Amino acid sequence: MFKRIISIASALLVSAAALNAQDAIVRIHDIGTGEIIPADIYGQFSEHLGRCIYGGLWVGKDSSVPNVEGYRKDVFDALKALKVPVMRWPGGCFADDYHWMDGIGPQEQRAYISNNNWGGTLEDNSFGTHEFLNLCEMLDIEPYISGNVGSGTVAEMADWVEYMTSDAKSSMADLRRANGREEPWKVKYFGIGNEAWGCGGSMTPEYYSDLFRQYQTYLRNFGSNRLYKIASGASDYDYNWTEVLMKNLTGKGMKGLSLHYYTVINWGRKGAATGFDEAGYYRILSKAIEIEPVLVKHIEIMDKYDPRGNVDLLLDEWGTWYDVEPGTNPGHLYQQNTMRDAIVAALNFDIFHKYTRRLKMANIAQVVNVLQAMILTNETQMVLTPTYHVFEMYNVHQDAEYLASDCITNKIKTDRELVPEVDVTASRKDGKIHISLVNTHYDQPKTVLVGFDNEKAISKIKSARVLTSAKPGDYNDFDNPGVVAPKAFKNYKKTTSGIEVTLPACSIVVIEAE
Ligand code: AHR
Repeated sequence: MFKRIISIASALLVSAAALNAQDAIVRIHDIGTGEIIPADIYGQFSEHLGRCIYGGLWVGKDSSVPNVEGYRKDVFDALKALKVPVMRWPGGCFADDYHWMDGIGPQEQRAYISNNNWGGTLEDNSFGTHEFLNLCEMLDIEPYISGNVGSGTVAEMADWVEYMTSDAKSSMADLRRANGREEPWKVKYFGIGNEAWGCGGSMTPEYYSDLFRQYQTYLRNFGSNRLYKIASGASDYDYNWTEVLMKNLTGKGMKGLSLHYYTVINWGRKGAATGFDEAGYYRILSKAIEIEPVLVKHIEIMDKYDPRGNVDLLLDEWGTWYDVEPGTNPGHLYQQNTMRDAIVAALNFDIFHKYTRRLKMANIAQVVNVLQAMILTNETQMVLTPTYHVFEMYNVHQDAEYLASDCITNKIKTDRELVPEVDVTASRKDGKIHISLVNTHYDQPKTVLVGFDNEKAISKIKSARVLTSAKPGDYNDFDNPGVVAPKAFKNYKKTTSGIEVTLPACSIVVIEAE
């Protein structure tokens, strides 16, 4: 602690003299925090919504689109490169309409339903439990199953857990075997409902607490499988929901408590994903970083009821939510993704890294073709979005030791939170230090002096990459898939005590040093 106060003080002294020459001064406390950034902060969310599953992850084995056992090959390969740690499925709102037995057995005999949450689209259940869990196994992803409380039953949920994870002799485990899967899968994360205050049943927190206690009683650990049970948590500013659940469910089987926070200014007039002006750019960034005080308040409540930190906070839905692209089904939530979204993702990660004492998972909404997606597809083509590139560039921080830092920078005034011009996060793993720097400025480059508590913390810079584009509104589409893509970055100088970096306007730079 003493060390940290000294270092902040020395950074401030430096600032007075040097902020004229630099736009920002960063001080990295390379002594370390001992806190590891959980890989699950980089989680994904996949829902039966629009073209997330069908046409996104799954085309079926007989499709003319190149596929690996029915999974789109281009998407499969892109996800492999991303090192996805965890993926949530089948919803979202869809989860509380989902009856898992509809999605097992021979494909041609599966039930077909109307997806009433999301545009009334035909759901033929060709992607079900086997298809999801096999995908996770093939890509080494931890599955996170979201169970149906809103329109399901305790028995249905208990049977699903048994079907997936039991190695015993029982009719559920035998049904799985008859459907072609001998060994049980490993399933750790299990969500008991989704948005129980809304599409998951319009419940009060008191009523949901009672249901959670009932449902969780029958979700059993089979063989060596150990379930980590997750309660359906609050939406952004609903602190009362967290209060009631923490009061009623701490020590009652709840290991994780979820939270949803979307970057939306006005639910009635969300605005377009592209074609925004400077004010629209900063408005979204300011709403994105408003997640920090929201996290702090939920964590304060959790600390009150659970000072030892036995219950984790899981931000299992987050990201930007705009108007759908013109001409697309309003229920399919298909939106483009620009450099603005890339900056949103980077600023969010910088915040998440600070709170991993309590925040153990985050799942962006969603992985393909929905909201702030990693990947967009049409019939045969695929593009990687600017957000994908941030996830890929930042994956060096997964399971690395968090290095706290201070950043002295100007702040841009908006009608909400002040947006820092420069933001930073740093971590250390296997003897390497990774420093991610963000220049949020709409059209100005920024020069940053990066220093360390220990002047000998780094001896050389191994590599650096930048994500930027001519304009913050730039994006990748099927005709121009490479407009926004990471490139090698050279605009830095190693100084005796640190690094001087000039960040292009609206950019993200990741530096690897040792
Ligand atoms: O991600 C889209 C929807 O947003 C989810 O289905 C729901 O949980 C949330 O309201």
